[in-house]
Amino acid sequence: MTKLSVNINKIATLRNARGGNIPNVLNAAINCQLYGADGITVHPRPDERHIRYKDVLDIRPIIKTEFNIEGNPSDSFIDLVLSVRPHQVTLVPDRHDAITSNAGWDTVRNRIFLTDVVATFKKAGIRTSLFVDTNPVNIENAAVTGTDRIELYTEPYASGFSLNAAEAIEPFIKAAEFARELGLGINAGHDLNLDNLNYFHKNIPWILEVSIGHALISDALYLGLENTIQMYKRQLAD
Ligand code: PXP
Repeated sequence: MTKLSVNINKIATLRNARGGNIPNVLNAAINCQLYGADGITVHPRPDERHIRYKDVLDIRPIIKTEFNIEGNPSDSFIDLVLSVRPHQVTLVPDRHDAITSNAGWDTVRNRIFLTDVVATFKKAGIRTSLFVDTNPVNIENAAVTGTDRIELYTEPYASGFSLNAAEAIEPFIKAAEFARELGLGINAGHDLNLDNLNYFHKNIPWILEVSIGHALISDALYLGLENTIQMYKRQLAD
């Protein structure tokens, strides 16, 4: 079964646009789980322009499913994750000023650093995942760090899907087969949506978890949050 983790950063972005507490991020996390999400993902950035560090602390006690915190492992991020103790931490090499994550790790160049950070989290009993592209060199060196999982960066799949779906999925099938051979668990995320998710799932059913934010929260404006989460879940059901 592929789990659906809902990234609620966009709820925080909307709230932050006005100050105050509308929409309420905590209620969104509660409701996503009530409506069928298998997990909640948050991505605190150093400038706190989306999810704030305080949100992460506030959300922790209401998690009944799985809590995934993603981010660039700065000292303050590492301290936050160690104090919150989520089920999973996903390490992402996003620049401070990046609009959104736009690349996976160069796990060759960052191998020593990542090995160290992965060990810190694993010692605390937190499952680790490294955001990577489909390059086998990056996957092989991700495995060397000792990480439990990788998260495949699916933007290239999403952007190629409407042109040629079979071509777009091919490197992802190969990468997921290779990662499985290496004993890595595999997550996926970025730009997955109601059009491209089922094809991704059908071709790589052993993906353990997808984390989806932008498209899902945007769909919810039209379709409602409960209905939207159920629709995404159905894409992962067959
Ligand atoms: N995975 C990672 C590592 C991300 O940084 C993001 C975006 O914050 C996502 C998944 C979700 O991407 P999207 O918002 O396009 O669904």
